[in-house]
Amino acid sequence: MITCTGLREIQEGKMETIEIRGKDLIITNIRGKLKCFSRWCPHKGGDLAYGDLIGDNQIRCHLHGYVYDLNSGKPVMVPYVNDYGKWKETSNLEIYDVIIKAGEICVEII
Ligand code: FES
Repeated sequence: MITCTGLREIQEGKMETIEIRGKDLIITNIRGKLKCFSRWCPHKGGDLAYGDLIGDNQIRCHLHGYVYDLNSGKPVMVPYVNDYGKWKETSNLEIYDVIIKAGEICVEII
């Protein structure tokens, strides 16, 4: 289902948080490409609104530094430290398609 956000523009490099159909999401503009993903890190629930965008396609969580690919949602860097036992376990970040409809930013949530 496609849901429009009411947003028409997001400044490059900025992240907008938004709730759609009970999901907390972030939409960002990375060099002109809009990306949408879950606000909550799949590792331990860190708020990715405080994370850092890296390059064209990644976000680093501010809590433990895990990095996720914003196309696939896969973790691409896991800073595992032996002392912290099960830190390494995480799953993919939820990624959503962004569609522009009549100039409005919309998100597809299946
Ligand atoms: S909660 Fe995001 S890296 Fe641990």
